[in-house]
Amino acid sequence: MKPINIGICGLGTVGYGSFSVLKNNCLEISRRVGTDVLVSHIGTRGLRPGQDIGAVKISKDVFAVVNDPAVDIVLELMGGIDVAKQLILHAIANGKHVVTANKALIAVHGNEIFAAAAAKNVMVAYEASVAGGIPIIKAIREGLAGNSIQWLVGIINGTSNFILTEMREKGRGFAEVLKEAQVLGYAEADPAFDVEGIDAAHKLTILAAIAFGIPLQFAKTYTEGISALTQEDIHYADELGYRIKHLGISRRTIKGIELRVHPTLIDAGSMIANVHGVMNAVMVNGDAVGSTLYYGAGAGAAPTASAVVADIIDVARMISNPESRVPALAFQDDNLLDLPILAIDEINSAYYLRITAMDRVGVLAHITQILGECAINIEAIIQKEPRGADISNQRVPVIILTHEILEATLNIAITRIEKLDGVVDQVMRIRVYKLVE
Ligand code: HSE
Repeated sequence: MKPINIGICGLGTVGYGSFSVLKNNCLEISRRVGTDVLVSHIGTRGLRPGQDIGAVKISKDVFAVVNDPAVDIVLELMGGIDVAKQLILHAIANGKHVVTANKALIAVHGNEIFAAAAAKNVMVAYEASVAGGIPIIKAIREGLAGNSIQWLVGIINGTSNFILTEMREKGRGFAEVLKEAQVLGYAEADPAFDVEGIDAAHKLTILAAIAFGIPLQFAKTYTEGISALTQEDIHYADELGYRIKHLGISRRTIKGIELRVHPTLIDAGSMIANVHGVMNAVMVNGDAVGSTLYYGAGAGAAPTASAVVADIIDVARMISNPESRVPALAFQDDNLLDLPILAIDEINSAYYLRITAMDRVGVLAHITQILGECAINIEAIIQKEPRGADISNQRVPVIILTHEILEATLNIAITRIEKLDGVVDQVMRIRVYKLVE
């Protein structure tokens, strides 16, 4: 059989990482595919210092790669939305298969891209778009295909997990750790995508689509970042036996699908609470299998290239045997369900509340009275001695853990508490998630 030719668009960290893995593992790869897989054309504005691509053809214009008749599979590894989308649609129109690591593009424009690919009978593979080297798309789409998936919970942004780990373990400041994540190459070009939860929301949108057989719906994903978290919240959570993690959560409920990214208190003993640094982990619960956990490097050149090259091998095998295709979103294209995505105030959760109260008689009684009137059951309560500036301001932090309640009800209680004469500042609220392992 003739070799399969790869065109790489974008030779940054992931692009060059994929080139290197294809070169280093070429013998293993050709044994797996049944023919050679060769990089035949690279589109890049220029080589970076240290990049060596041998005699491979190079073009400054990435569209030259997509228009090259010799290229069978296009790797879109440029990132960004507009040009990347144009490039992928152009590749599809030219009848080429596509492999991409572009989570933002798949989450926002995936429905359109997959429809175009189906019309031209080509594949668009995107394993590298979620959790770097962890083969989570394949695990859900194929390995767990016999299950009705009940929920999935993931640490799917390495940068924010790295920040939370360093803040908790070393008491380091948020800004300082973020800067380090940027230097180490984990953070997105705009790090607000990491710390405000947008990157995790892109990835969660993709996971939920393939888990539940629903279209990609990024706009309906509730997104909250970690930038409002303080050292105090991290330490109070510790005292209560919890860890704060930035989680993507998607659950099937009777009312619809929960789709949410936010800081979350989870039991300190749970496996996912012990995923540290830049590592990612995704826990998936299926009705037949129960809970399963997938752990590994969520970012970096080689781990992400591992996923890109696995996709290339899948597509290359399909080129040799087209009957073995798996639908892009795991379920047949005409069988996606229009399940409602729940707004955040429609979810049920337990909550951690940090209330800054004036240190005087009766304030705590008023707070607990409001919670009682809203039928919110208190699971734990801590009132700390004032420290630092709080001493002269006569303020005390009050920490409350609630039982599960509808978020809309909690919102009513928080609004009333914030209006109390003895309460200052906004109430800090962090959702608590009880994992079934
Ligand atoms: N900025 C991302 C992260 C890179 O920190 O996880 C991998 O998608």
